[in-house]
Amino acid sequence: MKLVMIGTGYVGLVSGVCFSEFGFHVTCVDKDANKVNQLQSGQATIYEPSLNRLMQQNMQAGRLIFTQDTSSAVRDADAVFLAVGTPPNPQTGEADLQYIFAAAREVAESLKGYTVIVTKSTVPIGTGKQIQEIIQRINPDADFDIASNPEFLREGSAVEDFMKPDRIVIGTTSERAEQTLQKLYRPLTLEKVPIVSTDIETAEMSKYAANSFLATKVAFINEIADLCEKTGANVSTVAKAMGLDPRIGDKFLNPGPGIGGSCFPKDTKALASIARSHSVDFRIVESVIEANDERKHAMAKRIISNLGGEEAAKNKTAAVLGITFKQNTDDIRESPALAIIDDLLRAGIEIRIYDPQGMSAGRSRYQHHSINWCKDSYDCANGADALVVITEWNEFRHLDFDRIKKSLKKPLIIDLRNIYDPREMAKLGFEYSSVGR
Ligand code: UDX
Repeated sequence: MKLVMIGTGYVGLVSGVCFSEFGFHVTCVDKDANKVNQLQSGQATIYEPSLNRLMQQNMQAGRLIFTQDTSSAVRDADAVFLAVGTPPNPQTGEADLQYIFAAAREVAESLKGYTVIVTKSTVPIGTGKQIQEIIQRINPDADFDIASNPEFLREGSAVEDFMKPDRIVIGTTSERAEQTLQKLYRPLTLEKVPIVSTDIETAEMSKYAANSFLATKVAFINEIADLCEKTGANVSTVAKAMGLDPRIGDKFLNPGPGIGGSCFPKDTKALASIARSHSVDFRIVESVIEANDERKHAMAKRIISNLGGEEAAKNKTAAVLGITFKQNTDDIRESPALAIIDDLLRAGIEIRIYDPQGMSAGRSRYQHHSINWCKDSYDCANGADALVVITEWNEFRHLDFDRIKKSLKKPLIIDLRNIYDPREMAKLGFEYSSVGR
């Protein structure tokens, strides 16, 4: 079978490479010439464990190609996946579907033979129908079906999540489309991965509901952490005690500086916007969005107060470990570190930053600010008044604390990911603050 993947971002590139690993012929299409050239040279444009290796292997096998040209790729495709961005409208949070519709129009013009057009991007409920209408209008004779196949890939483990998903969700309106998608996922269903086959709207909703629930779970444990601090309870133990109930589950109960990434903030806001457009009261997700936005600023206030308050903190230096929205990714989109750093800069605090993978993205975002970009954690701590852990990179977990202590002006560590043990830190002579403990 021949597939086309339109969009080579975090979702499109991983999905395209993994489908070619299943043995299908995959053509990945992107408008961005630089991206296509880099991909054609065998270099992945994003950092994901094992993506580069898989990509090169399948390119050598002749199963994976990259191009800017949609039409020739679509002509003999059995399935065309739409994996372009659906960024949120900054004001309303509503998903901007211009790239989805532009891709649908381009595909419509080149369709030949039966083709399934599959939305892989997270799109508002009802988008499938709109894509159907666009294609029908442009190419009335086209023999095609629309389908929804949302992804559940986590950045930093996207290849593994594609190869070993908890489930596959497919929404279709015809037996033929369903058969095509069942064939594409046979390598996984043969391994007993469950498939949820349903209609398009239900598939679209399933993705939003899953992400919004996960975001709610994290926002909940962050709130519990705040109350633990006031009552002397330990949130890590509370999370363990809660998580042993299989109805709750022990995942996603790590308190932190707030939810980031290109999915949770976008998807919760998009779902809330859909609810508003249908005049459905969405108090829970609305409050998760609000609580999460506020948390990042609350974290900045906590750092400023640890530095002695607004006045005293001016001209002090904060050494920030981690700018990506979580570990094992180079992605800083919506990272809580950005809101925290912005607030600290506004408070007149000098910033030093080190991140294993996020330095180049960070430099371009802060190109107009005077920030010290450091080469490692020790360089970062050099001369700083506090060490602030914002992203839970493993390499931050086992630092040489004697060296850190000598580098810092004051032995103060503010750990927003609870990666250190409070007793250990006290023994080492650090003033140590974390979340919920
Ligand atoms: C998420 C979903 O997990 C994935 O299924 C979906 O397809 C895309 O969105 P991702 O955004 O890559 O994946 O990251 P994830 O690991 O889910 O973390 C999202 C945010 O929640 C991060 O900012 C992370 O730091 C935060 N988080 C997660 C916590 O603060 N605590 C937790 O316990 C888990």
